Amino acid sequence: MGVEHLANIENDSEWTRRQFIVRTGAVAAVGAAAPLLKAAEVAPLNRGSKSKNDKLVIGLVGCGGMGAANMRNLMNFNDVEVAAVCDVDENRMPGDIKDVEKKYGRRPDVYKDYRRILDRKDIDAVIVGTPDHWHALVLIHACEAGKDAYCEKPLSHNIVEAISMAEAAKHHKRVVQCGTWQRSTPEFTDAIDYIRSGKLGKIVLCRAWISDDFHAGHQKTVDVPKGLDYDMWVGPAEFQPYQQNRCHWNWRWFMNFGGGLSTDWGVHMMDIALLGMSKDQDLVMPTSVSAFGGRLAITDDDRTAPDTMEAIYDFKEPNFTMHWSIGRDHPEKPSHGTEFVSADGRTLRVWRGGWKVLDPDGKELPKEGTAPPPNHWRDFVDCVKTRSKPRADIGSVAQTTVVCHLSNVALYAGETIRWDAKRQDILGKAGKSTLQYRRPYRKGYKLPEYRPTV
Ligand SMILES: NC(=O)c1ccc[n+]([C@@H]2O[C@H](COP(=O)([O-])OP(=O)(O)OC[C@H]3O[C@@H](n4cnc5c(N)ncnc54)[C@H](O)[C@@H]3O)[C@@H](O)[C@H]2O)c1
Repeated sequence: MGVEHLANIENDSEWTRRQFIVRTGAVAAVGAAAPLLKAAEVAPLNRGSKSKNDKLVIGLVGCGGMGAANMRNLMNFNDVEVAAVCDVDENRMPGDIKDVEKKYGRRPDVYKDYRRILDRKDIDAVIVGTPDHWHALVLIHACEAGKDAYCEKPLSHNIVEAISMAEAAKHHKRVVQCGTWQRSTPEFTDAIDYIRSGKLGKIVLCRAWISDDFHAGHQKTVDVPKGLDYDMWVGPAEFQPYQQNRCHWNWRWFMNFGGGLSTDWGVHMMDIALLGMSKDQDLVMPTSVSAFGGRLAITDDDRTAPDTMEAIYDFKEPNFTMHWSIGRDHPEKPSHGTEFVSADGRTLRVWRGGWKVLDPDGKELPKEGTAPPPNHWRDFVDCVKTRSKPRADIGSVAQTTVVCHLSNVALYAGETIRWDAKRQDILGKAGKSTLQYRRPYRKGYKLPEYRPTV
């Protein structure tokens, strides 16, 4: 079973959903109870692999914007080699394939089915660059196949997936770096260090925000473009006929595939607030969340994600409040950012490009930074080699992802949601029937569920 079982698909000439149904069911049935590989086989760097010169051999799954960007970042390092790329749309890959071929002197293998990459013993790690609704299956199957991973943010489409992904990585002893690269960017690390040092005093309020004015417009269902396996693109999500405005890149404005800006950008900006308020990567978690808003501004449009949101989080240890906002504007502030407000009224504001410390009247105060962080992608490679936790370790980014999903859960449930940090689950029933807590998988797809042991 497991890897051997995945090996069987190598001979298939064409991919069909029916095949996926049968095979994924078999993988899922193994679940958390039985690791697919014995401990010895998941030893550092999978060095049963054939990697030459201690190179980290990688495969890319999802060759759109960010997947390809991650691959290019990793290609900067001489101890990384790209062996294979995979996308369900053959139109998404050509340019990158040429560059990979030029760099390594051979054409990477090209697949439409990511399990063919997972089946290869010579591949050490995968980049998960698919839309959010596919992250959980690809990442968990990768962990089960003994691969390490660079997985894009937000970790998941919903809470149950995020917890399962983090637990699967732990269970299979995988190194997983997530795409929250702000964790390796000086303005953010300086700001986090400043808060943790206590220089701003006791923090009583955090704010994180993003501006939103995206219009998806109205589109009719049309024929699926040649070369795109749309049924596979939809994967475990509810099937909806093809429309260009909810497929490539645009999916993030549709709650069937993404989580709107609360997850797309919340996972970046709330992450900084949570990191600043925590001692290390093990993040403080809220005890309760309430949220208000919806599609209030962009109403005559196909998009389903909220365009306006105010979410309030209550934290007990330490005692502070966090405010997440998706708004039409943020006067005199950057279009996105994170703020920490101290008991004496001073504020630290950080955004992509800078950070400031302000007195209660908004006058800028002197500040100092710390040592610049390592490159985010280099950190991934080094951690794979040393079997260490990367700066955006999956366990930690799962916590931020859950915090983001909680705002959507509270909004759609219309109730205050309480979080049990020990059990890593919502307390009581409120919110548990929302799509953002757990999605029903399309017939034939099954989430291999991993739960924390309490
Ligand atoms: N870290 C960042 O700053 C950052 C920035 C942008 C996007 N992202 C994240 O990166 C991910 C991808 O976003 P994007 O904007 O590049 O999306 P995109 O739609 O442009 O690209 C996704 C690609 O994945 C492919 N795909 C879909 N299902 C697949 C499957 N089962 N197997 C293989 N390929 C599949 C699609 O065909 C497409 O080419 C998202 O999770 C997004 O949130 C992160």
